[in-house]
Amino acid sequence: LDGHCYLLFSVGTAVIGSLQFGYNTGVINAPEQKLRSFFNDTWVERYGEPISAGVCTIVWSVAVAIFSVGGMVGSFSVGVMADRFGRRRSMLLVNCLAVIGGLLMGFSTMCSSYEMVIAGRLVIGLFCGLFTGLTPMYVGEVSPTHLRGAFGTLHQLGVVVGILIAQIFGLEALLGSDKLWPLLLALTVAPAVLQCILLPFCPESPRFLLINLKKEEQACKALVRLRGSEDVSNDLQEMKEESAKMAIEKKVTILELFRSAAYRQPLLIAVMLQLSQQLSGINAVFYYSTGIFKSAGVKQPIYATIGAGIVNTIFTVVSLFLVEKAGRRTLHLLGLGGMGFSALLMTVSLLLKDISAMSYVAILAVMLFVAMFELGPGPIPWFIVAELFSQGPRPAAMAVAGCCNWTANFLVGISFPKLEELCGPWVFLIFATLLVVFFIFTFIKVPETKGKTFDEIARSFGGTLPPTSSSIEDPPVSASAATTVPASPVKE
Ligand code: GLC
Repeated sequence: LDGHCYLLFSVGTAVIGSLQFGYNTGVINAPEQKLRSFFNDTWVERYGEPISAGVCTIVWSVAVAIFSVGGMVGSFSVGVMADRFGRRRSMLLVNCLAVIGGLLMGFSTMCSSYEMVIAGRLVIGLFCGLFTGLTPMYVGEVSPTHLRGAFGTLHQLGVVVGILIAQIFGLEALLGSDKLWPLLLALTVAPAVLQCILLPFCPESPRFLLINLKKEEQACKALVRLRGSEDVSNDLQEMKEESAKMAIEKKVTILELFRSAAYRQPLLIAVMLQLSQQLSGINAVFYYSTGIFKSAGVKQPIYATIGAGIVNTIFTVVSLFLVEKAGRRTLHLLGLGGMGFSALLMTVSLLLKDISAMSYVAILAVMLFVAMFELGPGPIPWFIVAELFSQGPRPAAMAVAGCCNWTANFLVGISFPKLEELCGPWVFLIFATLLVVFFIFTFIKVPETKGKTFDEIARSFGGTLPPTSSSIEDPPVSASAATTVPASPVKE
């Protein structure tokens, strides 16, 4: 038990990064009007006239969406950083970005500069992009094989709890007031400081110590503490096998990943799943739901937004228990289909908003949309990429997939307010159409990966593992067990 406490402590510390990603995703939603009037005040102060509605919308959309530009760059650079500085030290260093970004946003009103909000959002985006890679990597590497799936899901759980905290703190009565909203944005500094205090007590990833640095003794020490037992020979053995395989199946660069025909199918699937997550329109809700609810005639839009956050959290937990039973493919299809239906319902409620009961239909539609998202399209794309690729091409594939995710996130964030202006109540039909396309793609192309080893999955794409590694037929039981997806989450 002692060992498990230490493991939980280490994983919990890393998941503060996921929490930060969620917090900064959700935090911009509630104070929209405060930010808009701050932009106007600054404008009046500088140019002696109020800001035009069009310019104000542009500044607002930029402040929202530049976060994802930072995320694209951050997620793309995670491999290089994690290998140069190690997992733990990377997390420590990256927290500097949270402090810089938080301070920029926190002092923006004092300096009468909306540019500082935008710059702060960019830096925070970089920080979050790095953590969307660092947290899953560290958690995956310190977890014992049979708990890796369950702990992996804690990343998305961290994200959704972060969103919920942001929504609650964003209440007018708490930090969402005229005076306090800069503090709401700056609050991201606090978890960063906390994580920096806790990280020195966490071990460096034993896999990094052994496989990358060849420091067997230190790796062994870290393992003994994480497992809470002196006998870690099984873990060590498994890592050494992984290390040996890596030497045979050499690292694949991003360029080689695109060139080789063997990776074309899984790469297409990985990228399409990321796109299905973001182009479903989920972040139109998480960035702008307060505005959406308002246009549907909801009286207290902020509480509806918090309701969406609660539903979001509940259904992530539901998915955690379902994913090893129902399978990824089924849940993803169900989620996409359900989201498509909700988007239609949303459109109807916006079209008929003069009927007062329609505001309830709008709330229901958004809740259903969010619930269906967390059933599959939320958590699955984050972890399925690792399942679709074997050790050699995996890091390159994850960088490409992560960057696609953030790029699509950016596109939705920057274009939604304009689309809403242009399409009015019809705006959710765009997402409904895309959802149909992704549903068909998933139905035709996405294989079920539940319960299959990485080797079996690679073979299902045409048995295209490089000849050197598929010639190690029937590895010892422990090695094949290591690649089997655990059948059910934590049972102790
Ligand atoms: C996923 C998405 C993120 C979204 C969140 C909502 O983590 O990657 O963009 O905001 O789910 O729960």
